[in-house]
Amino acid sequence: MTKIVILTGAGISAESGLGTFREKDGLWTKYDLNEVATPEGFARNPALVHEFYNARRQNCVEAHPNAAHEALARLEQYIDGQMLIVTQNVDDLHERAGSRQVLHMHGQLRQALCAGCGHRWEAPLVMQPADPCPACQGGPTRPDIVWFGEYPYYMDDIWDHLRGADLFVSIGTSGNVYPAAAFAQDAGRAGAYTLELNLEPSMCGDDFVESRYGAASVLVPQWVDEVLGA
Ligand code: APR
Repeated sequence: MTKIVILTGAGISAESGLGTFREKDGLWTKYDLNEVATPEGFARNPALVHEFYNARRQNCVEAHPNAAHEALARLEQYIDGQMLIVTQNVDDLHERAGSRQVLHMHGQLRQALCAGCGHRWEAPLVMQPADPCPACQGGPTRPDIVWFGEYPYYMDDIWDHLRGADLFVSIGTSGNVYPAAAFAQDAGRAGAYTLELNLEPSMCGDDFVESRYGAASVLVPQWVDEVLGA
């Protein structure tokens, strides 16, 4: 029984019009991540942080899954085996393409979190600092996003899947951020075949047995067709 773990990053959603982070014109070239993607930044200026994520939530609503998201959903549907997508992305394009086994290790734009009581609920399109938590009526209420300096979600589950994988594929990530940047090494050490599909070599490109470079909307459907023997 084939067990595939797929890691995705901002590059898989780039052709859906959602920005990446570290390329030319990337989000971190326009915003100071210390101001909008750290707990300290949120404590200093929650209105600025909500403004940043409100804009990204609006972009996400207006975006559509591309051929790469759709190919992964097709793979999950027809594969003779198990498949898990671990995404660093906070958009919901994998789910809207039809993927069901998706873990958002950096959180999700469509979810809100109460920093007071830990309650999670579906985020409104626009969040404001004064929004009370629907459960405890307190707060502060924040986007359910894992910020720099915070611990990613589902790590024990992810490492279990990496240890049991036959195939690990990384799509559209620069390999700048840990622990995701170490997943290829973790999976390779446990015996998985490792494949990188990216526009250009990532920071951890040497950790992969095979690499293919190009646009995800071209590479991913091609690769899925190979796996499904189409
Ligand atoms: N097809 C395939 N790959 C692409 C495409 C494309 N159309 N466009 C861009 N890429 C690649 C780039 O070459 C780059 O390697 O996607 C990668 C995007 O890298 P980053 O902008 O660093 O995004 P990512 O790797 O997802 O960042 C990881 O950093 O800021 C944190 O939490 C944030 O989840 C994010 C994490």
